[in-house]
Parts: sequence; structure tokens; C-alpha cells
Amino acid sequence: MSKVMILVGSGTENSRSLNLAQNIEKALQRQNIKTELVDLRILQLPQYDATVENTDSYDDKTRNFLKKSKQVDGCVWVTPVYHNSYSSLLKTAIDWQHFSFDGKVLGTASHGGQSPAAVDQLLMVARAQHFVSIPTRVCTHNNDFDDDKRLTNPAIVERIDHFANEYSDFIKRFSN
Ligand SMILES: Cc1cc2nc3c(=O)[nH]c(=O)nc-3n(C[C@H](O)[C@H](O)[C@H](O)COP(=O)(O)O)c2cc1C
Repeated sequence: MSKVMILVGSGTENSRSLNLAQNIEKALQRQNIKTELVDLRILQLPQYDATVENTDSYDDKTRNFLKKSKQVDGCVWVTPVYHNSYSSLLKTAIDWQHFSFDGKVLGTASHGGQSPAAVDQLLMVARAQHFVSIPTRVCTHNNDFDDDKRLTNPAIVERIDHFANEYSDFIKRFSN
């Protein structure tokens, strides 16, 4: 069974990005993909530090995060739009993942800004990590959610199913 890590980069508790990620997680599970959702606000990784990396002196949570990162068949990055870009919580996690995901599959999603700016920028990051990115992205705005920050827009729910279907297809085609 394929394994996918979902990184969620919002700094807000009970965020819409988190709810979006949970919807993506369920859709991937319906495709028989095993998932692990990592709420980076809760994990609180330290800032990337090359000295720690070079001396293999990681703290336990960073070491554990990196160990799991190396065991997955792909990732999904879900970010809020911060300053027309993706969040630093997500970037910190990605910087610690200072290795190649050669041939592994990546999906991206963002919340806020009514704009694909964040996921477009993430595509450049994905290239640097040698991910194979799926073409479908999911970008939401506040109107797609109810007052409890639950995703309710049926068009987005349908898009997430399409995203998961495409993701599963890419895993079958590209994963070793
Ligand atoms: C530091 C920061 C920068 C932001 N920059 C933008 C922005 O450039 N454009 C925008 O439309 N919204 C911006 N926002 C608003 C967020 O996109 C919005 O709060 C969104 O709901 C956050 O998603 P979340 O609920 O998943 O945390 C910013 C919010 C923060 C905290």
C-alpha cells in the first residue's frame, strides 16, 4: 500500500487549510493510499540548521520527521496564502527534507487569497526536490467553507476527488 505524507502549514488553530488537508486525506484514503497528516503548527520543527544536519545532531522530533519523510511514496503540501506565497512553517519542513524525492509524487493545495500564487511557487520548490507533481491543484477561499471552517463547496469536494484520483494514478505510474 502506498504511503503519503500530508504537510499542513497554517499557523492558525482549527485552520481552513487543516480542514482542506483533512478532506484531501479522506479522498486519498478512498484511493487505498495510507496517509499521515502532519500539522506543522503542532509539530513545531526548529528552524533549519546546517550544522545540526552536518553533525547529525537532530532533536528527536526532527529526526523522527525525517525518518518518516524518507519512507513515503509521495507528499501533499497544503498551505495558507501568506504574503502571496506559502507559509514559513511549510518551508521549514521542506528545508529539513534536504534530500531528493526522485520520482515520488507531489500534490499541492492552498487556502486564501483567491489565487494560485502559493501553489505556483511550490511547483518551483517541487522541482528542486525532484518530485513528480500532479497537474491538478486545489485552491480554496473563505466562501468554500461554513462558519465552523468546514469545507462545504460541492465543486471543491468534487475537485478533491479528482485530485486524489489523479494522485493515485501518478503513484501507480511513477513510484518504484
Ligand atoms: C502572515 C499572513 C499573511 C497573509 N497574506 C495574505 C495575502 O497575501 N493575501 C491574502 O489574500 N491573504 C493573506 N493572508 C490571509 C490568509 O490567507 C487567511 O487568513 C487564510 O484564511 C489563512 O488560512 P488558514 O485558515 O488555513 O490559516 C495572510 C495571513 C497571514 C497570517
